[in-house]
Amino acid sequence: MSITSLGRMGGPAHPKVTTLTIQEKKQRREPITCLTAYDYATSRLVDEAGIDMVLVGDSLAQVVLGYDNTLPVTMEEMLHHTRAVRRAVKSALVIADMPFASYHTEPKEGVRNALRFVKEAGAEAVKLEGGEKRVDLVRRVLDAEVPVMGHIGLTPQSIHKMGGYKVQGKDLGGIERLIKDAIALDRAGVFSIVLEGLPREVAAMITKEVSAATIGIGAGPDCDGQVLVFHDILNLTFTPPAKFVRRYGDAAALITRAVEQFRADDLPKETKEALDAILARKQMRRMAISK
Ligand code: KIV
Repeated sequence: MSITSLGRMGGPAHPKVTTLTIQEKKQRREPITCLTAYDYATSRLVDEAGIDMVLVGDSLAQVVLGYDNTLPVTMEEMLHHTRAVRRAVKSALVIADMPFASYHTEPKEGVRNALRFVKEAGAEAVKLEGGEKRVDLVRRVLDAEVPVMGHIGLTPQSIHKMGGYKVQGKDLGGIERLIKDAIALDRAGVFSIVLEGLPREVAAMITKEVSAATIGIGAGPDCDGQVLVFHDILNLTFTPPAKFVRRYGDAAALITRAVEQFRADDLPKETKEALDAILARKQMRRMAISK
């Protein structure tokens, strides 16, 4: 590495967010913000921008590690990334996503893995997928003093069971199941529930019904808060985004331009000038396309 300093001027820019803050925000109807992050630099930027919760999502399997889905990512990989995020984040609530197969067998194993995220990586809460069927595990994890965020609807770890990434709650039976799942998690004591890929009307009903804060992704605007994947909002995913994703910047273009310019700096003057002209034309074309 270079001698680049990772120093920080002064203390945290925002007050510390806890699970209590999240519940108070729900009561006051203040929108709650959550973004995924997986490394020191980006989670530090997310934290300093004042986002309430940083989720070290298992989506890191795809956006950081290049897998096709979230299933292969391991406990060790999730711990490694959670530690990096922990070192960066001073204000936001740090939530670690429990990876596939870390809580699907013995409840004891699930509790042990939840504790590892707190003890070995500094997480302040864990997230796990599933509704009613996870209630026993949620209670045990809470008994071990670890706050839990639930996750229902389109749960990516169930890709094979769902037969693909499918919006849930499209018929009355599905809607009833989602509402039962949300109420069961709420009664078990989760502080928050991610609602992913479900109709906005269903998300609105659940949000009114439960005391846990609902955090939507592809679930409409009526949740208590919203979560998105960091790489999605910055065009760093190399695939067309899902319909609900809003792009707030183009980091791919920024990085490509910087790297091409760095490479060009080592070239003879005339070649560099020719390359700069090509890069400028490319940039104009990109701007014209994005208009
Ligand atoms: O892993 C993840 O990024 C997530 C969010 C999309 C909620 O679970």
